[in-house]
Amino acid sequence: GGNLPRLLRPAAPPPEHNELLSSEEKQVTGYLLFSLSTAVIGSLQFGYNTGVINAPEQKLRSFFNSTWVERYGEPISPGVCTIVWSIAVAIFSVGGMVGSFSVGVMANRFGRRRSMFLVNSLAVIGGLLMGFSTICSSYEMVIAGRLVIGLFCGLFTGLTPMYVGEVSPTPLRGAFGTLHQLGVVVGILIAQIFGLEALLGSDKLWPLLLALTVAPAVLQCILLPFCPESPRFLLINLKQEEEARKALVRLRGSEDVSKDMQEMKEESAKMAMEKKVTIPELFRSPAYRQPLLIAVMLQLSQQLSGINAVFYYSTGIFASAGVKQPIYATIGAGIVNTIFTVVSLFLVEKAGRRTLHLLGLGGMAVSALLMTVSLLLVSIPAMSYVAILAVMLFVAMFELGPGPIPWFIVAELFSQGPRPAAMAVAGCCNWTANFLVGVSFPKLVVRERRAIVQLFDVVTVFQ
Ligand code: GLC
Repeated sequence: GGNLPRLLRPAAPPPEHNELLSSEEKQVTGYLLFSLSTAVIGSLQFGYNTGVINAPEQKLRSFFNSTWVERYGEPISPGVCTIVWSIAVAIFSVGGMVGSFSVGVMANRFGRRRSMFLVNSLAVIGGLLMGFSTICSSYEMVIAGRLVIGLFCGLFTGLTPMYVGEVSPTPLRGAFGTLHQLGVVVGILIAQIFGLEALLGSDKLWPLLLALTVAPAVLQCILLPFCPESPRFLLINLKQEEEARKALVRLRGSEDVSKDMQEMKEESAKMAMEKKVTIPELFRSPAYRQPLLIAVMLQLSQQLSGINAVFYYSTGIFASAGVKQPIYATIGAGIVNTIFTVVSLFLVEKAGRRTLHLLGLGGMAVSALLMTVSLLLVSIPAMSYVAILAVMLFVAMFELGPGPIPWFIVAELFSQGPRPAAMAVAGCCNWTANFLVGVSFPKLVVRERRAIVQLFDVVTVFQ
């Protein structure tokens, strides 16, 4: 198949290759870094909106209640309140599924850069809906806002990795690919810090906390016109050779971009028969079977590792482990998260994708075991420290590989023709698994507690 040799080619040439290193240095320009940073604002938004809902849970619940009292003259029942809350949390991932699935169509029709620009309007709409919900006494506006923000984030989990993969020099595609995840984790950390009661997590200010996503959207719209369109999109999709060359010259900081141009032209020629692959075609063609399987499996392993049980519910986990100030432990997890993403950024071109991903998943399994033991032995005071340590280790291992790699590997495994369709399928798998973990974790916790209680009952019966 036309695509497989690409898969078998090493993703990064060996770093000890001197000639490559010197040309690599020239390839990293300020303009490239500026363009990458602008694109990564989208990743920051995804992280921010993932983490932002955790802290103000009680504020939102009492807002639902006061709206209910205003409308129906009686307080909301605890059951209904929990349903409304769960919908507000989970509808974000539903939006994400739809958004990520639409990314292929959008990226091909409007191009990568213009898509990013247009998609920001969703952040403005969603942010304003949530920001004005209290003034309008409408909890429906929070739910609608979360849905629109989910759509927005779903689109960016495709658009940013695609753009970053297409403008980065091949030997640094992994390291720059990790920048998407770095944006995500910094976004989560910012949300955790801003969510503190003393900052924007207060009774009055929480609508602003949710609406703050509008600011980076506006900033990105101001910066995007100064970024180039992806040279690959210009050359291969639009056949604008001169425009593509100009963009490359600015990105690489060198007049001699013939090697890049040659490579793209070869890809373009190879692609003549597989231009703009649709999603059904992606599933039908045997040539895409192996890369598609890899992409989907990596995405599923990322989400089914349960990482978002930590980022959605960590404060509760820490509280039940007997931690006195759980919110600070949550912020601690956010800091460890950021540090290890940076570690991965430096390792990924040297250690390889496969090794890091497997190592990370294995380490997560060990940490999960440690966490379970510490929660079972919660009556021993020192165990709350073991629980914190286990969560930190879990998060650190995640960021070594399973966090960053699935997001950039899809752009790397597929050539220009099938890339947008593959990003859509992989992204949608990620968001679906994200949704499943998000809605089932609270129920699993209850069931697990019941099981433990039963276990203790059995033990006492035997005694
Ligand atoms: C990855 C996951 C995302 C998770 C984040 C945590 O980006 O896709 O769901 O919240 O890592 O750092």
